[in-house]
Amino acid sequence: MYNEIDLDKIDITLGPPAKEPARQYYFIARCREWVRDFEQRNGRVPNSCVTTFGCQMNARDSEKLEGVLKQAGFAAEPDERKADFVIFNTCTVRENANQRLYGRLGQLGRSRKRNPDMKIALCGCMMQEAGVLEKLKKSYSFVSLVFGTHNIYKFPELLSACLDSDRMVIDVWEDTDQIVEDIPSERKFSFKSGVNIMTGCNNFCSYCIVPYVRGRERSRRPEDILREIKSLAADGVVEVMLLGQNVNSYGKTLEDPITFAQLLTEIERIDGLERIRFMTSHPKDLSDELIQVMGSSQKICRHLHLPVQSGSTRILERMNRRYTKEQYLELTEKIRRAVPDISLTTDIIVGFPGETEEDFQETLDIVRRVRYDAVFTFQYSKRSGTPAAVMDGQVAPEVVKDRFDRLLSEVQSISAEVCSVHTGSVQEVLVESVNDHDPSLLTGRMSNNLLVHFPGDASLIGKLYSVRLKECRGFYYLGEGGQIIS
Ligand code: 5AD
Ligand code: SF4
Repeated sequence: MYNEIDLDKIDITLGPPAKEPARQYYFIARCREWVRDFEQRNGRVPNSCVTTFGCQMNARDSEKLEGVLKQAGFAAEPDERKADFVIFNTCTVRENANQRLYGRLGQLGRSRKRNPDMKIALCGCMMQEAGVLEKLKKSYSFVSLVFGTHNIYKFPELLSACLDSDRMVIDVWEDTDQIVEDIPSERKFSFKSGVNIMTGCNNFCSYCIVPYVRGRERSRRPEDILREIKSLAADGVVEVMLLGQNVNSYGKTLEDPITFAQLLTEIERIDGLERIRFMTSHPKDLSDELIQVMGSSQKICRHLHLPVQSGSTRILERMNRRYTKEQYLELTEKIRRAVPDISLTTDIIVGFPGETEEDFQETLDIVRRVRYDAVFTFQYSKRSGTPAAVMDGQVAPEVVKDRFDRLLSEVQSISAEVCSVHTGSVQEVLVESVNDHDPSLLTGRMSNNLLVHFPGDASLIGKLYSVRLKECRGFYYLGEGGQIIS
């Protein structure tokens, strides 16, 4: 395990070992040398800033980047303009994510003029996209390091190369079948953690760029996942979020296949762990076995994120989602029968090519029928290289905007009603932080993922605490404290 490795004992004059992860520890040791030199020259340690765009998988990857930088001796600097090493972990799921990145990069390029030694690195999904690398080389040549999603475990080696070079270091792989375990990571919270259980996606929904930039589906071995969670629990983590693009198909491609439900059953047995969450679930792969495990579990949280994308069977077919509106509705009913207090949330895209007003009405209908606790709504964004980008019937932007606004107002009024049903009840929350706006309040998360603000002091952070819900404010509650549960 990483914790047992003494970086100071690595002799960097011996050259890098061939095997992973030992090779990467060698490069962390080399980066430490570079940091010592920097400190001698400048009278201070260098600092670094990791900026994350996109989903929870990226947030987890960024913890690994932070872990490596910390082990190498960099100090954390929240303001990217003041950092010596800046890394953007990028997203490309919608076009505006790319535009935001170029905007931020342009700004940083200008502030770099004041600190020409600043190194800027880019990694993550956008770097895997066709054409991006060429654009960076042409218009953003001040960038020092570019790598993608498949070789993030190589960050120490690439960091070392970039610190020693004045040229742009580039290492973007097409795909990989490798999963390297035990790379250091810096947790954002002491009491909860994301855990990757798989990477990639094989579904090829016709609008989605993820299968092209994250590659084929690969599951981590259950023994590696269990070992990681046991060590997190021993370190005080009470809640884990299992992460994957499609967790319901976990384990299918392993040498000894196991199901996601079986993995959950094993995780449930880990002492000290109190809560288990997971995302994202694909409706077509959600099994009866999983529903049964969720129904009988003491630790799996009462929340399921189940992206529907559209309520129209015709559009779902064009999206290559492989379920119908009726099958989705049956599935949600089955889940609610097994887990009556479950909170359901979803993702919806409006304006997919070919979507008519009738199709959109089907989406409004499914929203009214399922009555989601929360809906993440997106305007369709054309991603080149995906089948939908060249489909006929692209919808005019003003029509998309109009449907988006109508959907949003519908989901907001339904969610406010659905969320308020818990008023007056006593709920177990995991206390996460001191409230941003009022330091006399704490913020806790209920099993169903809703937030509650209540009076209390910071010593409760990380504890499970019972709170009475006094008042619903739309998407969160105000409560009053009770007692520590554990
Ligand atoms: N346009 C709009 N939304 C998209 N999503 C994925 N690809 C696109 C796209 N091209 C949404 C889906 C997915 C969520 C993470 O992002 O709803 O579930
Ligand atoms: Fe994209 Fe579909 Fe895979 Fe989700 S399941 S990542 S929407 S291709």
